[in-house]
Amino acid sequence: MLINNVFRSVLLLPLVNVIRSSITSSKLSNTCNMHYLTQEEAAALDQDLFNEYKFSVDQLMELAGLSVAAAVAKTFPISTHNTALVVCGPGNNGGDGLVAARHMTLFGYNVSVYYPKRTPKPLYENLLHQCKQFGVNILDCLPPPNELQKDYKVLVDALFGFSFKPPVRESLKPALDALIDGGLPVCSVDIPSGWDVEKGPGPDKALKPALVISLSAPKLCTQPEFLGTAKHYLGGRFLPPGIITKYNLTLPSYPNQDQIVEIC
Ligand SMILES: *[C@@H]1O[C@H](CO)[C@@H](O)[C@H](O)[C@H]1NC(C)=O
Ligand SMILES: *[C@@H]1O[C@H](CO)[C@@H](O)[C@H](O)[C@H]1NC(C)=O
Repeated sequence: MLINNVFRSVLLLPLVNVIRSSITSSKLSNTCNMHYLTQEEAAALDQDLFNEYKFSVDQLMELAGLSVAAAVAKTFPISTHNTALVVCGPGNNGGDGLVAARHMTLFGYNVSVYYPKRTPKPLYENLLHQCKQFGVNILDCLPPPNELQKDYKVLVDALFGFSFKPPVRESLKPALDALIDGGLPVCSVDIPSGWDVEKGPGPDKALKPALVISLSAPKLCTQPEFLGTAKHYLGGRFLPPGIITKYNLTLPSYPNQDQIVEIC
């Protein structure tokens, strides 16, 4: 019996280790060896979708926001994180957040939205209107960061996207501070707000997201060296093959009909 056990462990352990290390290395080579976009490439890719492929902003925003909601629900399920606050900025990233808020409400979350700087365009006005119609609470002001934990379990950061250039304007600093100091897990849409799109978090106090959902393709600041232990999903499953070729994208493949796929 003893001899049998010793024999088994001597024989099996190396085999288990070989299997384990081959799983690890194939995971790395499949998912981490990716082309991360510069800020300029991300902007050009976006323009191609509109100009060459005739997508409208609302079409892509709907799919982007849906994939954000899916990744949040996968990582922070309703069973443990049923109350969410989505912090929306003035641009497309904020629009993705408004769409995500609506889908999260459909999924069963109690969702609030803080949208301090509203863009006076029909697209954004309609998205906000829809949020209200679906029962999303629209906040006029933000509780202080140290009180957020009383009301919420998870935050969604839809403040700045890939066009962000520092500095953060004064009127949006409280929103960013809530994300940084709220003591709650933060799910960042496309890039963590306040980060340099290419160089990652700066020397100052920076947001540390628990989850990042890269949209269409990951940007340079979402490389593993910057994200650390954060979960990283890819969403926005709408890229035409011509774009994947043109930008040399090496993206993980989406499983089945899923809107998201985990990176690394
Ligand atoms: C939703 O969450 C907010 C913030 O925590 C809370 O004030 C409100 O009562 C909740 N609504 C429901 C229906 O639970
Ligand atoms: C893609 O790769 C080709 C060949 O390797 C190169 O010529 C081209 O500049 C690359 N394009 C981009 C956008 O990186």
